[in-house]
Amino acid sequence: MTYRELSAQALAEKDYKAFLEELYRSLTDGRKDPNEVVRDTLFEIYSTASGQGRSPTEMDNLSLPAKVVLHSLDPRNITTEPEYYADIDAKLYAERKPFIWLWQMFDRSPLGQNALLSHRFRRMLAPLIFRRVGENFKCWHFVEWSFGYNLSFGDDVVVHRHVLLDDRGGIEIGNNVSISDYVNIYSHTHDIYDIHRVFTPATRIGDGVRVTYHATILAGTQVGEHAMIGTGAVVTRDVEPNHIVVGIPAKTAKVKEFK
Ligand SMILES: CC(C)(COP(=O)(O)OP(=O)(O)OC[C@H]1O[C@@H](n2cnc3c(N)ncnc32)[C@H](O)[C@@H]1OP(=O)(O)O)[C@@H](O)C(=O)NCCC(=O)NCCS
Repeated sequence: MTYRELSAQALAEKDYKAFLEELYRSLTDGRKDPNEVVRDTLFEIYSTASGQGRSPTEMDNLSLPAKVVLHSLDPRNITTEPEYYADIDAKLYAERKPFIWLWQMFDRSPLGQNALLSHRFRRMLAPLIFRRVGENFKCWHFVEWSFGYNLSFGDDVVVHRHVLLDDRGGIEIGNNVSISDYVNIYSHTHDIYDIHRVFTPATRIGDGVRVTYHATILAGTQVGEHAMIGTGAVVTRDVEPNHIVVGIPAKTAKVKEFK
């Protein structure tokens, strides 16, 4: 697997290097209790992140940790895991990277778990990131994806906490789909002999499907309409419409009956 070479702007790279060197020295040279070094470093990181009335470009008299925080608020100075994948469309990703970074850092701020604000915030950003977003999109915190531009949501989709939507090969989510906490949906996999061979078959989740907590759906599977994936299941094959599947590998336990 070939990874891409990425870097920040020159000043940020210089400060990142100095920050890591200085921190390592303070933690290990025995001049200060490492607990105090950690306490002071975290204080500087968080007090800078929460704002001290300075502009992010006024860095002259700041400490190195503070400078590093300010650099890291700028999407041009950070890299994300998907940016290293050779199959990324770098142009499409670059167009949405600022919105992706804003979403991820918002989630990690005190605002991110305030559902009153955060649902509206994510609904506002979602069309700028994903291939398609239908009506009433609702997304809880700590949801991650790979590229964003290969991910589409129908109407009335709810995505719960800590979900991973790996859209490298594409994920299509239909209407009225519920995705519970800690679900993983993939659209890439690796050859079992040669890790550098990556396959990216698209994964589709049909209308009305419920993927329940801690389930995993492997790349390329097609989940039929109104199916339900039981908690903890690993879906390795297509799921028929209306089937309730459970276990590893997921097998049909029941078929929904409609009167
Ligand atoms: C899939 C699920 C809906 C099945 O519920 P159910 O129809 O009430 O099924 P039952 O409890 O009657 O179980 C039927 C059989 O499947 C087994 N089973 C049920 N859920 C299972 C699961 N997730 N994994 C493995 N086996 C499971 C039961 O042990 C039972 O086996 P048995 O017949 O040998 O005793 C349920 O287990 C589940 O995963 N619920 C998730 C909860 C949910 O909706 N979360 C989303 C919230 S947003």
